[in-house]
Amino acid sequence: MGKTNVSLRGKNVLGLADFSAEEIRLVLETAKEMKNIIHRDIKKVPTLRGKSIVTLFYEPSTRTRTSFELAGKYLGADVVNITAGTSSIVKGESLRDTLYTIEAMGVDAIVMRHKAEGAAEYAARVVSPVIINAGDGAHAHPSQGLLNLFTIEQHKGHLEGLKVAILGDVLHSRVARSDIYGMRKMGMEVHIAGPKTLLPRFLSEEPGIVVHERIEDAIKDADVIEVLRIQLERMKGGLFPTTREYARIFGLNNERLALAKDDVLVLHPGPMNKGWEISPFVAYGDNSAIQEEVQNGVAVRMALFTLVLTGGKQE
Ligand code: CP
Repeated sequence: MGKTNVSLRGKNVLGLADFSAEEIRLVLETAKEMKNIIHRDIKKVPTLRGKSIVTLFYEPSTRTRTSFELAGKYLGADVVNITAGTSSIVKGESLRDTLYTIEAMGVDAIVMRHKAEGAAEYAARVVSPVIINAGDGAHAHPSQGLLNLFTIEQHKGHLEGLKVAILGDVLHSRVARSDIYGMRKMGMEVHIAGPKTLLPRFLSEEPGIVVHERIEDAIKDADVIEVLRIQLERMKGGLFPTTREYARIFGLNNERLALAKDDVLVLHPGPMNKGWEISPFVAYGDNSAIQEEVQNGVAVRMALFTLVLTGGKQE
């Protein structure tokens, strides 16, 4: 890691809107070191020995919860998982009382996913452990934004000046919001396309974002394409045609992929609705880094834990 005066020690990771470019750079550089640990036979270092972490998930997750758990364990921390369905939350315990209960056990960090926007910010106000937002409604998913940047940089060698197309259900996507803040801060050119009903109005007012009516215009000459999951579970109705129509007009297939640069990188945060927003040929094709994103998620989350709980290495 190069010389830096930036420290994330004690910082709550609530969203990339409150991360500077320098702070993002520190996470990406630290994640490179962490990725080496994941490739070792014995994936265990003592960096967080004596630290305790709770993952508190009110919404389902495979990638995020598991990778935060593995990240903590690889770094030597004690990690305990609480899911809403198997805790006293089902007996009606409030979010505040649940947070107080976890705090009382001497926990150093809480990784939290909740359906309410602002839930992580609320947690950071009421308890002392470091809070890492693992997704709050449609608001933010900062570690996913960071792992996307990390994956892009691993392939392209840099971020500044790259054209990224973000496609689909932006309205319900906390990933898209974290991407947009992170990518803009790192000097990327952000293009958006999707059904008008699924594009929030704030986008056209954001500086440096180009909103397209046609998906083909966003994809043209792109260096990176991020396809978003259609979040039917968050839709109240009337926003969406049929899945077949969506695939026809907005789905990323090989024909549309050919409009981008030859070495375009395809990302998707998962889980995928294959055949809807992305064809299986694209999802598993040569340009796809979707599985690699999952592995990079562990490295980036190891970096976050190291930096917020120890300050990391300051050379
Ligand atoms: N990308 C993502 O948040 O996936 P999970 O819902 O499986 O955690």
